[in-house]
Amino acid sequence: MPIKTANPFHDPLERMRPEVNRYLTLLKEGMESGDLPLLYGPAMESLPGQWRQHFADAMGETPQQLILEIGSHFGEVILKMATEHPETAFIGMDITFKRVVKVAQKSLAQGSRNMVSVLCNAKALDQVFADGELDGIFIFFPDPWAQKKRQMKNRLVQQDFVRILQKKLKPGGFFWLKTDCEPYYTDVCEAFDPSVWEQHQTRQGIPSGIYTSRFERLFREQGLPCHEFCWTSKGPIRTDL
Ligand SMILES: C[S@@+](CC[C@H](N)C(=O)[O-])C[C@H]1O[C@@H](n2cnc3c(N)ncnc32)[C@H](O)[C@@H]1O
Repeated sequence: MPIKTANPFHDPLERMRPEVNRYLTLLKEGMESGDLPLLYGPAMESLPGQWRQHFADAMGETPQQLILEIGSHFGEVILKMATEHPETAFIGMDITFKRVVKVAQKSLAQGSRNMVSVLCNAKALDQVFADGELDGIFIFFPDPWAQKKRQMKNRLVQQDFVRILQKKLKPGGFFWLKTDCEPYYTDVCEAFDPSVWEQHQTRQGIPSGIYTSRFERLFREQGLPCHEFCWTSKGPIRTDL
């Protein structure tokens, strides 16, 4: 069940009966007790600009980097990254109660102190992070909305969103995308302005690792192509020009 509210700091559970979905209770109790590494709604309101500090308490030191995954699903990729990069903090974002709870449960089980599972629509990115706060953002196999032309407006990564990505990344921060949908890939490439983005020629850091998501594996098993690219932000958008 996906969240419906547009305001990331509003409590999406406020008007919902817990018996509708057992993950509502797990989500609420997991966050309130602090037993599960997850966040949603009002608990995120004080975090823009403070995400590193939020992790510093659990990690025992300020994380060197802060990385966001949009659409973390059941956490395959972000959980692996969190294990391989214990000095970096990871935020896995998704819009369904079940996926957010499952990722938090797995994170707890593997003993990660450097990741949190967040119930939030990525359309609210601008409100949830301060400008320049993130070192990297990745999205693997976003919903393609490719069946009908009129559905394309629902795609997440479009020009306005790319501007927000650029604001939220620090200079040199990366945006990494994989998709099986060629028209989506082509449109996203066009939305990246080469005067403010640089294509990663040689991968460094996290994007140089091998991270295969569930959808990537499914598509490759079917012999379908996967398109992938990684850009680096050249710095904040000039508003004085
Ligand atoms: C097609 S699945 C891909 C999952 C995973 N990244 C992979 O590659 O296996 C898309 C995921 O993005 C999530 N999602 C869709 N729209 C979103 C949004 N606006 N903000 C955050 N997550 C979203 C869905 O709930 C789902 O888990």
